[in-house]
Amino acid sequence: MTQELWNAVDEYLDGLVVRPDPVLEAAQRAGDAAGLPHIAVAPNQGKLLHLLARMRGARSILEIGTLAGYSTIWLATALPPDGRLVTLEVDPRHAEVARANLERAGVAGKVDVRVGAALDTLPALVAEAPFDLIFIDADKLNTLAYFRWALRLSRPGSVIVVDNVVHRVAYADTYEEDDEAVRATRELLEAIGAEPRASATVIQTVGVKGHDGLAIVLVDGTG
Ligand code: SAH
Ligand code: DHB
Ligand code: MG
Repeated sequence: MTQELWNAVDEYLDGLVVRPDPVLEAAQRAGDAAGLPHIAVAPNQGKLLHLLARMRGARSILEIGTLAGYSTIWLATALPPDGRLVTLEVDPRHAEVARANLERAGVAGKVDVRVGAALDTLPALVAEAPFDLIFIDADKLNTLAYFRWALRLSRPGSVIVVDNVVHRVAYADTYEEDDEAVRATRELLEAIGAEPRASATVIQTVGVKGHDGLAIVLVDGTG
């Protein structure tokens, strides 16, 4: 009933305000053509990531969950010329599509796509930390572990954004009662709420991606 309205409003607002460029649209199409799932952030969410990075003056960004590199491009274009972005992706096919998209977008020189399960590739990033902005958008089962890593790879003033923090808890009864991703999301939200080293909010969103939400966390201290 409402999804059609949300789609129409997103399209209206995107046309007026977001104006995603042909490079971003080409990246989406390349992902579609390669048969990748259609689960990238929406254009207005990508622009939110871009704006948060610029507001923060981010020079180093970490992304967990690359897919075709759509959110990666939004984030990378927010970096200064000497900025850098590391993005972690478990599926080599996704990484390959993303690398081509990043090349086409002219940001390949500042982006490092690392292939492997994020829990295996995160430890090496201790040597490259801190990151000014960290976007968590990979498998939901490990989302709490990723948040803990994000805190570890942050400094005071770093921003952590977590995608998809509402859908599974809002619609828990449409999942199996013991759905692990529902439990994982609840555990993440509890940990964010209880984290003494960070200030956070969670915003519900509706739009082309349905009803979901983003957690936005400002790291106050890492001690
Ligand atoms: N951030 C992207 C969408 C990411 S979709 C965008 O908005 O454009 C989630 C991605 O996480 C998928 O490509 C999936 O292959 C990847 N992923 C799943 N499990 C992972 C893991 N354990 N480590 C790293 N990446 C993982
Ligand atoms: C799914 C994953 C996402 O990261 C997202 O934004 C939407 C859906 C999924 O796995 O279904
Ligand atoms: Mg997501």
